[in-house]
Order: sequence, then structure tokens, then C-alpha cells
Amino acid sequence: MNQTEIQSNAEIVLFGALGDLSRRKLLPALYQLDMEGLLHQDSRVIGVARQEHTQEEFTAFVKENLTTFVAEGLNEEVLERFIARLVYQKLDFKELDSYGTLAKTLEQGNDTRVYYYSTPPAIYGDMTEGLFKAGLIKPADRVVMEKPIGHCLASSKVINDMVSSRFSENQIYRIDHYLGKETVLNLLVLRFANSLFTNNWDRNHIDHVQITVAESVGIEGRFGFYDDAGQMRDMVQNHLLQILSLLAMEPPADLSADSVRDEKLKVLKALIPITRQNVKDKTVRGQYTEGYLKGGLVPGYLEEDGAIEKSSTETFVAIKAEIDNWRWTGVPFYLRTGKRMPAKHSEIVVQFKEQPHNIFKDSYEDLPANKLTIRLQPDEGVELQVMNKVPGISQQMAISENKLDLSFSESYGNERVIDAYERLMLEVINGNQSLFVRRDEVEAAWVWADSVIEAWKATNDKPKPYASGSWGPVSSISLIARDDRQWVE
Ligand code: BG6
Repeated sequence: MNQTEIQSNAEIVLFGALGDLSRRKLLPALYQLDMEGLLHQDSRVIGVARQEHTQEEFTAFVKENLTTFVAEGLNEEVLERFIARLVYQKLDFKELDSYGTLAKTLEQGNDTRVYYYSTPPAIYGDMTEGLFKAGLIKPADRVVMEKPIGHCLASSKVINDMVSSRFSENQIYRIDHYLGKETVLNLLVLRFANSLFTNNWDRNHIDHVQITVAESVGIEGRFGFYDDAGQMRDMVQNHLLQILSLLAMEPPADLSADSVRDEKLKVLKALIPITRQNVKDKTVRGQYTEGYLKGGLVPGYLEEDGAIEKSSTETFVAIKAEIDNWRWTGVPFYLRTGKRMPAKHSEIVVQFKEQPHNIFKDSYEDLPANKLTIRLQPDEGVELQVMNKVPGISQQMAISENKLDLSFSESYGNERVIDAYERLMLEVINGNQSLFVRRDEVEAAWVWADSVIEAWKATNDKPKPYASGSWGPVSSISLIARDDRQWVE
């Protein structure tokens, strides 16, 4: 049995309840919490969307999506209990008066409310105003904001200002679902619970770091949203920078929300901006074309449904990021992320420095350096490459490369992998902000991301084509090869 306690009987109000995120992630996450006994018996789930729907239609919609997206299959008893929590509320998000109807629905319920904004961020301000005018924001209430918050630093400030004018910072939960992933959380444990790594984690011992977040999916019918964002805003500004900051931060004094966030912020602020002068050496943008993936032919980005013929939005990004501080000067962090790559595959490779002198030259000319691989997904695990003597009685000391491999599925086989949204939803209900991003972090991440985006704009470079099913444009290989290094595939 799990040891987590139900701490709040909050009502969950899902704005954008009929949307993609809600169908695939939020509703299944809430169902799983119910399954685990972690939703209070009085908690309701209020689905809010623009369309006119009856309660029955909403219930059918939820059932259908739970059937599709709950991998383990549904439990009839839990499903019935979960369905009984559902309420559908039509709402015109921009019509401030229509929030009065929502107020009527909510007044029958509990005191604490979690407002989950899963709509385009441009209307976060309207929703906040609507809730405020209808008297629906009380000190105990919380608001969850999906990323990307804004399109750049300036627009993110506008959105944050609007939301912050009615909610205080301790009520605001900016979600980056990578922070709820088991393996991302494990970075803290790996770094700060193992002296082996704590004491070797700096420029004196580490040669470079690679962070790869590859997906085989394309844009999954979201051309409108995606084309406006691109891989830089959709993945790098948030997920990759959060991973990077956890990897590079100084040890926090404790695990409290602000101790960890203070340290992450320092890393984000120390990122060296990319400039018009160095953008071609330090970054690569790509866009996928038609190609073979998992045995089938898939269309290119410009042939996706709803595509704009001439779009120059990137679906792949590789960047040599550098951190200007005492610990990391001279250690590149190579970031790489893309759609339509050969497989869903996310990992971190920490490449340690070579030994200064090789006493095994006679049997092994070039001693490889140790390499730590942290497999984020799938096949979650941690692997350390070490050198080892080959057993035997030969005159020469034969040695070989070996792996110490901790596979999570082998070590913790029976544990269900908890989805990031499930964990994060529970954290919001319980009022714990540790796994959410503070406003200053979002802004520092935008400062750096904007430097890249503006440098691209200034050089007017089109994204380089890469075939679906490949590891990105050839120039991403040159990006790292220029430094005499190579991507670990
Ligand atoms: C989302 C992006 O934040 O993360 C999507 O908007 C992306 O484009 C997704 O596909 C990847 O998440 P995960 O958990 O599947 O790695």
C-alpha cells in the first residue's frame, strides 16, 4: 500500500477539459489517484470547456478516453466512483459574466479548489479575471498553469502579471511535467545521496554532458499550436533546461521548494546567451521530411494535416550550452531534442575526463574515460561504464570496458511506473510546490531561449531538413564533432 495521505478534499476544475492533454493525461491521472485511494471521497472533477454538452455526453467522453489511455485497464468499481465525481460546465472563457454559472456549480462543493489551466496560455489572464470577478478565488485555492507560459520573455511576463494580480505566488503551480518523472527526480538522489558523484561533479572531473530527448512521434495533429512554438519553445525552454538545471545546480540546503528552486535559478542565470555571431557554431535547427520510421513511411512536417507550406518552424534542435560559473566553466552541455527520430529515447550522458596517464598501454592503448548514462525513458535506469580486468593468467594485463547497469524494471520490477501528471496532480492537491517552476525560473529560461531564437531570426537561417527516422540533420553531428566529440547513440 502506498504511504501517501490524502491531505485535501479539493475540487479539481479542469479548464480545457475536452482537450488533448486532458484526454491523454489529466483525466487518466485523476482516475489513477482515485484507484490508489488518493482522491478524497468528496472531491469532484469539474470539466470546463466552451462546447455545449450534457452531463451524459461528458461522462461518455471521459469513459472512452480512460479506456484508451489507462494502460493497465479499468477497474469497474473505481470507474463508477470516478464517474460519479464528474460535473460538466460549459463556459465561454472570454465572457467574464459566464463565470457566474461556474460559481453556482462550485458553491455546492468543497472549500479548496484547484483550477487547472489546460488551454492556450493567451487566455490565462481572462480566466483569472473571470474567476476573480465571480468571487471564486480564495486564499486556499490553487491554480496550475501549463507550459509554455508565453512565447518569449515579454509575453510570459504579461501572462504571469495577469495571473499574479489575483493569485499569490504560493497559490501558483507552473507545471513542467518532466519534474514529475521518476527518473528526473532521481537526479537529485543520484547526485546528492552518492558521494561518488557528489565529489566528482565539476569541471575538474567531467569532460562534457549530453542531454538527448528524442521522440518518434511527429506533432500529433497539433500543427496550429506547434507551428507557433517549435521545438525550442515546446521542449528546450522548459523540459531540457529543467533537466540541465537539476544536473548542474549546487547542492541545496534541503529539499524545500525554495531551496531547490533557488539553486536551479542560479544555473539558468549563468547560461551564456547565444549571439548572432556564434549561433551557427553553437546551434542547429532541423525540420523533418518524409521518411521511414518503424517500418512505415511517415509524412514530412510540411505535409502534416493543416500544415502551412512554407513554415520554417524547427522540429529539431541541437545546442552547445555553456554555464558561466565556478563549477562548470569549459564544460559543454550538448542538448538535442527532436520529433520523428528513430525512437522515443531520452537520456543523459555524463562523460568523465580521461585518466592523465595510462599504465595499461601495452594491453589497452587508449583508456576510455568513465561514462555515466542516466536513461530517463524508456527502459529507465542508470549505467556506469567502467574498466575491468579480464580474468585470466595471461602475461599482459588484459582489460575491457564493462557496464554497471541498474535497470529500474529489474530492480523494482513490480512497481507500476507512476505517470508524471499523477504525481504532480497529487502534489498540487497537497499544496506542495517543490516540483513546480517558480516565476523567476521561467523568466531566466526565457532570457536564454530568447537569445537563441533572436539569433536565429537575425541570421535568417532556415531549418535544415532531416529524414524522419534519422537522428537529425547532419550538421548536428558536426556541432559536436567540431569539439572532437560525438553523440552517444
Ligand atoms: C510536451 C510537449 O510538453 O512534452 C510535446 O508539448 C511532447 O510536444 C511531450 O511530445 C513529451 O513528453 P513525454 O512525457 O512523452 O516525454
